[in-house]
Amino acid sequence: MLQFDILTIFPEMFSGYLNESIIGRAQKKKLVKINTHNFRDYATDKHRTVDDSPYGGGPGMVLKVEPIYRCLQKITRAKKKRCKIILLTPQGKTFNQPMARRYSKLDQIVLICGRYEGFDERVRKLVDEQVSVGDYVLTGGELPAMTIVDVVTRLVPGVVGREASLTEETFAKKGYIEYPQYTRPEMFKCKVRRQKTKTFKVPAVLLSGDHRKIKEWRAKQAKKR
Ligand code: ADE
Repeated sequence: MLQFDILTIFPEMFSGYLNESIIGRAQKKKLVKINTHNFRDYATDKHRTVDDSPYGGGPGMVLKVEPIYRCLQKITRAKKKRCKIILLTPQGKTFNQPMARRYSKLDQIVLICGRYEGFDERVRKLVDEQVSVGDYVLTGGELPAMTIVDVVTRLVPGVVGREASLTEETFAKKGYIEYPQYTRPEMFKCKVRRQKTKTFKVPAVLLSGDHRKIKEWRAKQAKKR
């Protein structure tokens, strides 16, 4: 079973998202295990300090290296065969579907969430990879960690009902964007931004019942975008 260990000072942020829907079910079915660890519990002073002012001066606070190190030591003690320690940072390699596929074959994924103005540079020495979810700066690594858990979990065999959902979807093949989908009603009338009423119809081919034609149409649409 793939195990995620998330290091964060806000473990409460994770329960709402990860315990619902597909990811929640994957945990109940024991296809994945998701642990959160508050590295504040690994601070040794009486105030349980996790950050401090930067050497050399400057604004803000910097996450300390020792609580993160101590937490990692404990988590990685029971040596899992294939384990990756990942630091979430906007300076990392941008996360994508091929990376997710590689991660989905591991036994353990450790995700370290940064916070505040940053972390002590020596935290980078403790990890295997540094990963970003995009070229923008979030207030912390929690949303990126949830993103990675979500994307990787749905690639674990048995998590998504129909395997075809995974092989036919966007990014399943290089440069592949999924074909457009429609469901009832056949005709949808609407008025967008006070303009004239418009009618949007489902493409006739999808209603034809001709499976060869539908397949051709989908293949063409998928390539077009
Ligand atoms: N922490 C803050 N911004 C981030 C980003 N874009 N990716 C990963 N971790 C982050």
